[in-house]
Amino acid sequence: MNGKDFEKLVFGMAHQIRNPCAIILSNANLLIQQPDLKPEIRRSIESIINGAKYLESRLAEFTEFSKPVVLNLNKVSIRKLFNDAAALLKDKCRLKMIKISSDLPQDVVLQADFHQIFLAVLNVLLNSVEAIDHHGAILLKGRLDGGRAIVEIEDTGMGIHPRDLPEVFSPFYSTKPGGVGIGLAVAKRVIDAHLGKMELKSRHGKGTVVTITLPAQGPGSRG
Ligand SMILES: Nc1ncnc2c1ncn2[C@@H]1O[C@H](COP(=O)(O)OP(=O)(O)O)[C@@H](O)[C@H]1O
Ligand SMILES: [Mg+2]
Repeated sequence: MNGKDFEKLVFGMAHQIRNPCAIILSNANLLIQQPDLKPEIRRSIESIINGAKYLESRLAEFTEFSKPVVLNLNKVSIRKLFNDAAALLKDKCRLKMIKISSDLPQDVVLQADFHQIFLAVLNVLLNSVEAIDHHGAILLKGRLDGGRAIVEIEDTGMGIHPRDLPEVFSPFYSTKPGGVGIGLAVAKRVIDAHLGKMELKSRHGKGTVVTITLPAQGPGSRG
């Protein structure tokens, strides 16, 4: 199946599921407003609502994924990217005793789509958090090398088995229970759209390094 067919399939499936899902949700929302519901009935309607909402948000993710990437270019500060992402992950990191830090001797500012690069970096950082069971470190390094910005995200997590390594960028590939497996696929699509590169090196049991290379002047020039 080529990329276009895949796109059509995902879009078609999402479309087929969206309507029944909306019907389930609106009816369950009506039912739960009934007075004097028995607690066990209320609980089961709540599960129906939660399940349908989960389905809706997954659906949104899939359709988002099947759309072409449209870039809205602006100035992106790597320091700001890191600070915003670290703020979101703060609680998770505290709970798991993960030290999250950056090594940015000088801020690197590039021409890119802030929102989308943020999503890509956040997906990578989230994987690092998930790869660390308890106690560990995540380090984001950034530097300019000629016309390229290089961002490295290292973690001391469980690493990836050499057997799994070739698959990690494939859509819907996940080794996690309940994992959706589109985090890295989405990140790579965003980086590719910026004419950048994304690589992953890992030592099973030791940790992982994800390297993102982007043209500092933006995808308009291949400097
Ligand atoms: N930092 C990491 N450490 C260990 N394994 C990783 C890391 N990043 C990615 N992986 C592997 O790549 C797979 C795909 O990642 P991703 O696309 O984000 O999907 P998901 O996180 O939903 O599993 C993960 O299931 C995991 O096996
Ligand atoms: Mg992920």
